[in-house]
Amino acid sequence: MKGIVLAGGAGTRLYPSTIAISKQLLPVYDKPMIYYPISVLMLAGIKDILIISTPTDLPYFKRLLGDGSKLGIKFTYKEQPNPEGIAQAFILAEDFIGDNSVALILGDNIFYGPFFSQMLKNAVKTTGTKTGATLFAYPVKDPQRFGVVEFDENKNIKSIVEKPAKPKSNYAITGLYFYNNNVVKYVKNQKPSKRNELEITDLNNTYIKNETVHLEILGRGFSWLDTGTHESLLQASQYIKAIEDNQGIKIACLEEVAYRMHFISKEQLDNIADNYKTNPYYQYLKTIN
Ligand code: G1P
Repeated sequence: MKGIVLAGGAGTRLYPSTIAISKQLLPVYDKPMIYYPISVLMLAGIKDILIISTPTDLPYFKRLLGDGSKLGIKFTYKEQPNPEGIAQAFILAEDFIGDNSVALILGDNIFYGPFFSQMLKNAVKTTGTKTGATLFAYPVKDPQRFGVVEFDENKNIKSIVEKPAKPKSNYAITGLYFYNNNVVKYVKNQKPSKRNELEITDLNNTYIKNETVHLEILGRGFSWLDTGTHESLLQASQYIKAIEDNQGIKIACLEEVAYRMHFISKEQLDNIADNYKTNPYYQYLKTIN
């Protein structure tokens, strides 16, 4: 399974903070936003990750993340010259995907909750073997802002409607998607929407029509955090800080995830920590065992 992080977009809702820098490089408390979605792919066991962003922002992601070798993984990079929809990522990533299944995560999506690692591992195991796609839904109070699930009478997923005026449920489809290798073919046959974008929701509806789609419901006790406005971005930082302070752990600390997933050794982890001895983030790495 390959992984893609889509970190494009102009982020105009966060102007002026995002005039000069990509939204996904802004900090969420003590680390850049993109660490959170990358950690999700790593926890799924995915070691081959493509970062897609705008031509102007891509060099900054390269500077931040490098080739991934320090984390025992591989990052490659691809420009999205024009923002033509989330599903366009699969066309840009065609060569990268090859004949593999693929997971896509949006660069501004933050997930945190119990048993998530297990759900991710299941998604990797079943997508492309038992199911065509695995999607994740989360109950929200303002479904109009998202792709929203319509359930059939047996509580199975019937369709998804993008930003409906009258939502058929309060379950939003999150920005984490697992697909089998048919994904590129489906997107290539897709027509752009009225706003001239290749919509992820149209792709998901194609899957629902043609393949088995497993919908994983993220319930009570799970957090799927929004970072789209100044207020929600601050709230996300405060949420991460509260948990990290209470438990003395870090969320989405990539070096820790790499170690726990056995992508790097304890010695490699210690070597990273030794680079910035007085910095609390790197001091934390020394406490991991
Ligand atoms: C996109 C998708 C939407 C999904 C959301 C999750 O919306 O189009 O279906 O629910 O991501 O973050 P956007 O954030 O681009 O408005």
